[in-house]
Amino acid sequence: MLNDKILNFFKRCNDSYVSGEELSGVFGISRTAIWKHIEKLRAEGYEIIASPHLGYRLISVPDRLSEIELRCELKTQVIGKKIYSYKEISSTNDTANSLAASGEKEGTVIIAEYQSRGRGRLGRKWISPREKGAYLSIILRPDILPREVSLITLCSSLAVAKTIREQIGLAAFIKWPNDILINQKKTCGILTELNGETDKINFVIVGIGININTKRELLPEGATSLSVEKGEEISRLKFVKALLENLDKYYKIFNSGKIECIIKEYKKLSVVLDKPVQINYHNQLISGHVVDVDKEGALILRMDSGFNKRVLAGDVVMLR
Ligand code: BTN
Repeated sequence: MLNDKILNFFKRCNDSYVSGEELSGVFGISRTAIWKHIEKLRAEGYEIIASPHLGYRLISVPDRLSEIELRCELKTQVIGKKIYSYKEISSTNDTANSLAASGEKEGTVIIAEYQSRGRGRLGRKWISPREKGAYLSIILRPDILPREVSLITLCSSLAVAKTIREQIGLAAFIKWPNDILINQKKTCGILTELNGETDKINFVIVGIGININTKRELLPEGATSLSVEKGEEISRLKFVKALLENLDKYYKIFNSGKIECIIKEYKKLSVVLDKPVQINYHNQLISGHVVDVDKEGALILRMDSGFNKRVLAGDVVMLR
């Protein structure tokens, strides 16, 4: 799209003025046509000033999660090397699944400003208010066994919690396996989907939904958002870029085989460790004390009977 090309040109000019004549020469269109594109960019929220002698200058960019803004100076090796951004989508996980099935590369990110059919775990809905949160899915092709896929979820939860702590300064914790809590309320959920056979993974989709600037009245019971907790609007663009960089960092550690580093960091932020919990495990309620998270990401539960039970998936309810 020409608008994107003009934007990239502005970015390469490092905030200095670019004359209409130069733009017209570079893109091979009239100065009037350039002006029309500038108007379109302004309508999208780009602040571009015009001076009769100097030309146009890009002053600020809108807080939109567009491919062009997310890719700008993104310091990652794998995650976000390719980004598909949408104003509206049914579910980023659905699009990611189809793209991955057609051979899309590892690290590709699908992100949307609104989801009409956002999906959560266990068949739940994920409410995705327009331009308030971050709804994204990442295609991964890890060289692991299907039973190790929980580790990808752990890695991703760790990246989200760390980003909230580093960027926003809020004390984010992880409720096993993949809910991110602030003040005991959920601000992010992760839906990991696996495509593979018994002993082989074709691809994994990590779907992340974060309530960023969502107003209190739009949040479901028990949920919160970063802006509600911080008491101010958050730059979603800055946050998501930092998140992609952290996802890249932890995925790299994971691929280098240093799982124990990930688990150690994860355990530090866990709200369930050493706590009494009840788990819905294969439609059966079991309760006990969480004593560990093992190297495959499973929860080790000391049952009331004194025996330890290893739980790989389930819904946890904190008892105290
Ligand atoms: C949960 O806590 O139940 C997981 C919620 C995951 C929501 C995200 S939003 C982006 C991606 N696309 C979806 O349809 N779901 C995930």
